[in-house]
Order: sequence, then structure tokens, then C-alpha cells
Amino acid sequence: MLKSRSFDEVEELKKMIDLKDGRIDRRIFWEDWIYQLELEKLFAKSWLFVAHESQVAKPGDFLTTYMGQDNVIVSRHKDGKVHVFTNSCTHRGNRICFADRGKTRQFNCNYHGWAFGTDGALMGMHEESHYEGSIDKSKWGLQNARVEIYKGLVFACFDSDAPGLEDFLGDYRWYLDIVLDQTEEGTEFIGGCIKNMYNANWKFGAENFIGDSLHVGWTHDSGTKAMTAGGAVPEYMPVDPNSFHANANGHGWEGGIDGIGTLGIMSKGHPELIEYFQSQRDDMAKRLGDLRARKIFGSVISATVFPNFSFLPGISTMRTWLPKGPRQFELRAWTVVNKNMPDNIRDIIQNACMTSFSPSGLFEMDDGENWENATLSNEGVITRKQGLHYGLRVGTSRRDDPELPGNISRPMYSDVNQLAFYQRWLDFLAADSWDDIPKQR
Ligand code: FES
Ligand code: FE
Repeated sequence: MLKSRSFDEVEELKKMIDLKDGRIDRRIFWEDWIYQLELEKLFAKSWLFVAHESQVAKPGDFLTTYMGQDNVIVSRHKDGKVHVFTNSCTHRGNRICFADRGKTRQFNCNYHGWAFGTDGALMGMHEESHYEGSIDKSKWGLQNARVEIYKGLVFACFDSDAPGLEDFLGDYRWYLDIVLDQTEEGTEFIGGCIKNMYNANWKFGAENFIGDSLHVGWTHDSGTKAMTAGGAVPEYMPVDPNSFHANANGHGWEGGIDGIGTLGIMSKGHPELIEYFQSQRDDMAKRLGDLRARKIFGSVISATVFPNFSFLPGISTMRTWLPKGPRQFELRAWTVVNKNMPDNIRDIIQNACMTSFSPSGLFEMDDGENWENATLSNEGVITRKQGLHYGLRVGTSRRDDPELPGNISRPMYSDVNQLAFYQRWLDFLAADSWDDIPKQR
């Protein structure tokens, strides 16, 4: 239970998020009590991305990650099922796995030798005879989360009352499929995980990727010129009245419909990359239709699955913003490709992904510096009293577009998706249970 405070937290939070005028209180980026609410009422209740199936392809494969600040093991059991369970021994709480990833038949605790299966069950312990049959091992396994897989992406949830993953994703599946469902074979992660620590609040990563088109031409101006031998951002991301923000259930997608912007940046110096994607469009269109295969995919796009999983279609990075306190997060990022891509195309994508978005990438640190400075300065005792402006094109989204599912606003330069993210954030933090959270937003 959270410690009680001398004010009504939910009422205070509601005052902090003004969805009508687009104003947000700076305290959401550093107050410790808000962060504790996020851990308990958001991260412990929501579906969270934990792995791509390809990372735990065979029985015994495992990796470790975080759900909120709970360290968890994602592991494929011998029956073929993926399990997600807490990485903390039920004897004295020691961590039972210290590796980032690997292959094992069981997890043995260093302290007194309790052993757990790849499904989290307690299997036995060192000198078990001392217990003289007094311990029911079936009651002392690790805490398993619910696990569901959407087209290769493994999500887990610790709340037994949460709706299924497909309902949680809702209309947003239509957008996710643009990356995940281009081919019959599906996708996989290649090249390992890139980790990166930021002294910033995790929400800056999520809200930037969900809809912050505006920063690209300014923050990433020099990076884009370096990446493309002099090309400016508008050459790849023209101001197009038909570009859009789409959001559903707090998940968001922003992007153009020229079908070429991101691929243009990625294929600079590698014309075979753009030739490859153009040669795939007909097959893609059979699965996704013309709009998604020819106009949306390939444009400059960024996206966030609520709350903390983001991706850039075309640039091929997928990433989580793992909270480590209100003023720090860990970014974990991977390169995603289609399983049926030839080796030379995978290599170009991986190199271009690392050149743009990695600890030494041309774009990654542009963003990180801004988010760290914003987190730090929002805390000033005078500074904190003034709200932040999130009012660009506020109130312009509609759920009646003939082609695009979800709530749509045009063009892509707006704060609409960011506000949808904070609306969902407030839904979770104000709720006592899933019964209080609207099924659809
Ligand atoms: Fe794990 Fe004692 S803490 S066996
Ligand atoms: Fe950026």
C-alpha cells in the first residue's frame, strides 16, 4: 500500500493535466509520490513489452528485463510456452539470475541453493532433507505474470483483472501491423540489445516518440545533414497537410504518407536498400493494403505503445524506456528486421539504425540532452509553478476517419498524441482497478 498523504492525490493529479487547454504541470516529471503511483497503478497494472519472441526462440532461452522497477526473467519453458516471472528468490529475496540473456535448464540461487525451473516453479533446494517435508514447494515458486504475444512481440502483465492484450492494443493493432505483418514469416530482433542510461524522466522518451514531429527539424537538423551528406529535414519530412497523428487507448503513431522519407534517410549511400523495399511493396500491399504498404510505410514515422515501448518504422529501432526513479531511466533498444530479408539488407539496416539511434548515434544524444535538461529545470521551486504548453491543435482529433482507425488529427505537427498519452496516464493513476479505466480512448 502507498503511504497516505495529507492531500487527495487523485484530485491533485487531475489538476495537473489540463486536457482542454493543453497544459501540464511540471511536477509530473520529478515528484517522488507521483513516481510511486506510476509504479503501483500504471506499471503493475498495464501490459508491458518484455521481449521479442526471437530472443527466446528455443526452450531454455531466457533474458532479464524490468516491468516498472521489478526485475523479471522472460524464459521459454520446455513445453514451448514463454513465461515471465520475478527475478527474486522466495527464500531471502536474492536475485536468482544475473545474466542479461542466456540458455539454462534452471535458475539456481547463489545464497542457499534453491532451484527454480524455466517456468518459475520451485524445483528443489540444497540439503532439502532439513525441511523434513514441511515445505510445499508448489506454493513457493516465483510470481508469474500473464503473458500474451502479438505477432512476435511478447507482453506481460501482473494484473489478473486487466483485459486481454488485443483489447489493450485496440485499434492500434492496425498500425503495429505495418511493421509486424509485412511478410508471412514475421519479424525478428538482430544484433543484441543496446543499453543507455539517461538522467531524465521516462515519460520524455514516450511522449517524444508518440508525437513530437516538431522537434525533428530543429533538434535533429545537424544530425540529418550529417547522416545524408547535407540534406535538410524538410527534404525527407515535408510539411504535408495529410500527415497525421493517430492514437488509440493511449498508444500513438505520427507520420507522413509520402512513403519515402525515412527510407530516403536510411538508404543514403545504400541505394540497394530503397530498391529492396520498393521491390517488396506489391507483396506488402497484398497483406496490408495500398495505404499502409505504399503510402504510410517508409514515411518519417515515430510511435509509442502505451506506456513505455516505442519504435521507428523504417529506421527499425524498437525500444523501452525503463523507469529507474523519477529522474532516471534506462533505454534498451534493438534492431528489428523481417525474417526473410537478405543478409546485405539486414547489415545496411543495422548499420543505419546504429548510426542514427544508438549511444553514439547522430540522433539519439540530440534527444537525450534535451530530456535531461528539461527534467532538471522543471524542478526549480519557482520554475515548477508555471505550467507547460501542450496546446498545439488541442481538441482537433476525431474518431471518424474513413481510412485510419483511432483518433485522427492532421497534420502531424501537434500535441494531440502527447495529450492522449497523458489522458491515459491519468486514467491509470486515478483508477483503483481496471473497472475504473475506460475500455476505449
Ligand atoms: Fe535464495 Fe536463500 S535467498 S536460496
Ligand atoms: Fe528526436
